[in-house]
Amino acid sequence: MEKNKIINIKINGQEIKAKEGETILEAAYRFGIEIPSLCFHPDTPVKANCRVCVVEIKGMEDLPTACSTKVCEGMEIKTESVKVKAARKMNLELIFAEHIEKCPTCPLKSTCKLLAYARKYRLKINRFKDRKSKRKTYKFANAVEIDGTQCIDCRNCIDVCAQQGVNFLTLKNRGSDIEIVPVNDGKHDCVYCGQCAVHCPVASAQEQLHFQEVEKILKDKKDKIIVAQIAPSIRSSIGEIFNLPYGKIVTGQLVASLRALCFDYVFDVNFGADMTTIIEAEELIERLKNSKSVLPLMTSCCPAWVRFVEFYYPEFIPNLTTARSPHIHSAGIIKTYWAEKAEIDIKDVVVVSIMPCTAKKFEAQRKELRIKNRNLVDFVLTTRELGFLLERKRINLAKIEPQKADNPLGEHSGAAAIYGASGGVMESALRTTCDLLNKKEFGCIDFAAVRGAEGIKKANVKIGDRILKIAVANGLGNAKKLLEELKKNPKAFDYMEAMACPGGCIGGGGQPIPTTPKQRAERAKALYQIDRSKKIRMAHKNPQVKKAMDWLDKNEKLKHQILHTRYKKVKKPEALKK
Ligand code: SF4
Ligand code: SF4
Ligand code: SF4
Ligand code: FES
Repeated sequence: MEKNKIINIKINGQEIKAKEGETILEAAYRFGIEIPSLCFHPDTPVKANCRVCVVEIKGMEDLPTACSTKVCEGMEIKTESVKVKAARKMNLELIFAEHIEKCPTCPLKSTCKLLAYARKYRLKINRFKDRKSKRKTYKFANAVEIDGTQCIDCRNCIDVCAQQGVNFLTLKNRGSDIEIVPVNDGKHDCVYCGQCAVHCPVASAQEQLHFQEVEKILKDKKDKIIVAQIAPSIRSSIGEIFNLPYGKIVTGQLVASLRALCFDYVFDVNFGADMTTIIEAEELIERLKNSKSVLPLMTSCCPAWVRFVEFYYPEFIPNLTTARSPHIHSAGIIKTYWAEKAEIDIKDVVVVSIMPCTAKKFEAQRKELRIKNRNLVDFVLTTRELGFLLERKRINLAKIEPQKADNPLGEHSGAAAIYGASGGVMESALRTTCDLLNKKEFGCIDFAAVRGAEGIKKANVKIGDRILKIAVANGLGNAKKLLEELKKNPKAFDYMEAMACPGGCIGGGGQPIPTTPKQRAERAKALYQIDRSKKIRMAHKNPQVKKAMDWLDKNEKLKHQILHTRYKKVKKPEALKK
């Protein structure tokens, strides 16, 4: 087949130059022709099992599925003929028999394709009897769940969990009794990445919801001070829920929306990211200087990656940096330094992290991260949950007047802004490492080799006399490949970044649905744009972080607690423990 050969097809009478080898669905999307689809996702193999994307092809009796049928020269396709509409309607009505609607509390509601198709095709959603009312819900710790009563058997969750190298999900039974279940064999455990959730078209796999609890404390505050803190990556993704273009930066609108929800203060996790960078860079320098130290140093700000190491590769626990993750760092500062300055008792401060992530729900309640016997982050809401909360309160983020985050935890460097993209954590740490080592000749700002969506990136970077071997992985399947390489050659790298989700947090398990490669690319581009727009682009130059660090220097014991953590080998699966 000639590469990129152009062929002529017609869709709904419109002449189109399609690429040989692409599917009808791909060709149609490129030309802005929408064909309804549910099970199709560009990240997973085509399974063609929902049959919502059926089309009519001239000369063909059957209706093939657009997601699995490749274009041919001269093909004439109708996407909305009478025959197509009747078949699609029937298929959708059958899907509604698989999916018990729970719309009032479903964070997918405003972007739900099923509901949109129900309206478009005037479905009788109760035409067929619900077949799944007795299915179980499986809860994975406090982070993710799979509700069998909503599942339409598309199997995307099984595919992505396998791509993550976790293989925690499988199929039970056959035919109409088919069910998605966790593997309970003692050898597999969920790591809470939420990739099953962000690839589920019908919110059967989803985050465990905590927005109702947050809604309640915002309504009934009593003497509490409710603080929101926003993660680096959500400012370039949440706009999609409000029909803004992919990658639109909405930091100010996000802050204003949270104030409209009655949060008392809105802080930026980017402040915490600057702290994480400093601790990680110091640790990198320390380990590079000391020949007995364990290398490669591995990033640890992704809790799903940490869990993956703790359960599947505990031999690499000593490699993980002891730096806490950004929202835990900033929450630690909020509940100590800031609370002291604001004269608020730690017990009266409630911190809500708005995250692209389901694993952060699990991380927030880890006992190792407590201070004075309290969790530092009280609630974690995903990007989707916040979007849903705003919709429930009729707050339109797209139209609200932007506002600034509160200081001191509203200030951040450009280095913090890129934390949400694969390679961003390492690039931030390299900037600070170079500068602290006083190797100014290096340039020390833009490390292009670690950027981009490629699953594995490797490079050698020169810091003074030393060549640092670095490796960056996004997606746990890719991280696993690097760990296997290290098992064979322990000196393969000096420094390694791993993020569980494709593209990093911009593709996180709590991000808007859908999240596709194109969306991830635009979201990442926006984060680098924020970085370039900042005068201060190195974490340790953030003056507010410096002040907080000076305060910690006077509180030696607290300093260690707030800045560092430890990890544990997990011998038995814990996700399904009650
Ligand atoms: S959260 Fe991640 S590890 Fe757990 S079941 Fe879903 S995809 Fe698999
Ligand atoms: S849980 Fe969601 S992604 Fe998994 S098979 Fe069911 S509908 Fe598909
Ligand atoms: S990559 Fe980001 S969103 Fe995904 S699990 Fe890790 S921290 Fe969470
Ligand atoms: S999207 Fe094509 S069969 Fe499901």
